[in-house]
Amino acid sequence: MMRRWCGDLTLNDVGEDVRLLGWVHRIRDHGGLVFVDLRDRSGLVQLVVDRSSLDASTPEVGELKPEYVVEVMGTVRRRPESGVNPKLKTGWIEVAPRSIRVLSRSRPLPIPVADPEAHPDEALRFRYRYLDLRRPEVLAKLVFRHRAAKVIRDFFDEEGFLEVETPMLTRSTPEGARDFLVPARHSPGCFYALPQSPQLFKQILMVGGIEKYFQLARCLRDEDVRADRQVEHTQIDVEMSFATPADVQDVMERLMCRLFAELLDVHLTLPFPRITYDEAMRRYGTDKPDLRIGLELLDLTPACRDCGVRFLEQAASAPDTGVVGLRLPGGAGISRSEYDRLEGRAKELGARGLSWVAWSSSGIRSSFGRHLREEAARTLLGVAGAQMGDAVLLLAGRWPVVRQVMGQLRLKVAALLDLVEEGWRFVWVTDFPLAEFDEETRRYEAMHHPFTAPHPEDRHLLATDVGRVRAWAYDLVLNGVELGSGSVRNHTRSQQEEVFRALGMSVEEQERRFGFLLEALEYGAPPHAGIAIGFDRLLMLMTGSANMREVMAFPKTGTGACLLTGAPSEVEPEQLEELGIRLAPRAIRDPEAGESHRPAPET
Ligand code: AMO
Repeated sequence: MMRRWCGDLTLNDVGEDVRLLGWVHRIRDHGGLVFVDLRDRSGLVQLVVDRSSLDASTPEVGELKPEYVVEVMGTVRRRPESGVNPKLKTGWIEVAPRSIRVLSRSRPLPIPVADPEAHPDEALRFRYRYLDLRRPEVLAKLVFRHRAAKVIRDFFDEEGFLEVETPMLTRSTPEGARDFLVPARHSPGCFYALPQSPQLFKQILMVGGIEKYFQLARCLRDEDVRADRQVEHTQIDVEMSFATPADVQDVMERLMCRLFAELLDVHLTLPFPRITYDEAMRRYGTDKPDLRIGLELLDLTPACRDCGVRFLEQAASAPDTGVVGLRLPGGAGISRSEYDRLEGRAKELGARGLSWVAWSSSGIRSSFGRHLREEAARTLLGVAGAQMGDAVLLLAGRWPVVRQVMGQLRLKVAALLDLVEEGWRFVWVTDFPLAEFDEETRRYEAMHHPFTAPHPEDRHLLATDVGRVRAWAYDLVLNGVELGSGSVRNHTRSQQEEVFRALGMSVEEQERRFGFLLEALEYGAPPHAGIAIGFDRLLMLMTGSANMREVMAFPKTGTGACLLTGAPSEVEPEQLEELGIRLAPRAIRDPEAGESHRPAPET
């Protein structure tokens, strides 16, 4: 008999004889009757087992245990009125089994599978990921991921893009992280790098005439794992020949529209707003502004020039410093200890201190006490547009620092005062600086990657003032999270060399690391532009998950370990020998330490 899915049975099946395969989810033994919830990937159905009606081949139902795998033959029945469970998709029917055959047994479970309220220990969840995946709420995220990938592939196919797989064993593709290296057996002393992104290959595909490329591309970066960062992630990677930034943005906006409509029934408004990097830093103190929060940073510098408070006056008159403010609607009710906590955070982020002025029905209070004249306080409140009941935060100091710190405080106070609106707020951030000065290496480094073209209006500054050159780049931001980034690329050898040179790369280094790209750019490379969206990050936001690992089947821990397999692990001495590798003393592990990545099971 054909197998039926548990979760698909409905009142239309009443009277049908069915064969079900699945896992015992829950058992309630009422003596004469035993209720067993049976689960497969589609959902649950209730079995009502009447011991007396089971055939002889069925074992004693009391032997069934959670997570046993069984085959059930039985009849679908309408539930009695009193037994209907409207919360369950199959809550109007039940199955009366004739036989139950055990196909596989389970040991007692180290994590609960059937309790949606349970919050099993994280380390055990990922050590026993196969049990964790059986939890319906965990499975739902993988189903969501699959459906999203399908929408993406269908969309790009309809738009005339080709999906092309690029290699995993390759040369370094710099994206600002460390490379994972793989020793090459045939070339002792040489290593492949795992791709941080398919950046160079997708550009080479444009030279190869592919014109419109996309890939759900695996990317590997040896960086510290955080809630929205993993050592392995997937990008929706796109490259288009003859395209302008507007062309790339238009395709990606329509893709987002389609994903949100099909998966969440949310209808986004197009086009998404655009804001330059400079404006984002000025108004929000960050290059990934969360537009669900209406608050904007204020320049209170002119209002502080003659306010009577020495350090504000000083910051307001020196050339590289100023005073940035933030109006807090309803902020007058914030307690002094809360301000102290905010100041603590501001200091951690690099500010010297945090000041505030609050205006309530009982008058004006401030962190300055008597030092701030009443008249000056009123001016500050007025310039900030504060009403009675509001407060204003002030940070004085070096411009980029005070803006960035206030940008972070903006997020904190918005959460504190419940000022984060519901919704999906996309924004394109454009015209990033091409390069940033790296204090550590004492040289300019590409802000995105060195293949990004300079903004056409700034190209003349490349050789003389690279710090002022804008990149022809764009980031897509959603609710304050960087979803993706892209740019127009250097498509001629001379322009690519100019950028490398501006970034302080010698001719020898250019040739050694990127000679193949420079050469390809000499053979009729079309102008091209592209983008990559973090697929896991997008899914994390769309499913409301607090951590990216919830939307990945087999994620890694904070130190890049896989708790299921115990990777990374030591290898056999013969393997090292074959690769010509000898471990440095500091890399030799204590044999007593064992397999440290797998947590011990609970006893
Ligand atoms: P970028 O390095 O900005 O650009 O990466 C694109 C997007 O990928 C996601 N992302 C990550 N997600 C999870 N874990 C990580 N470790 C991680 N790193 C990046 C982010 C990010 O915005 N080649 C360029 C794109 C291009 O220019 O076309 C690139 O990789 O959401």
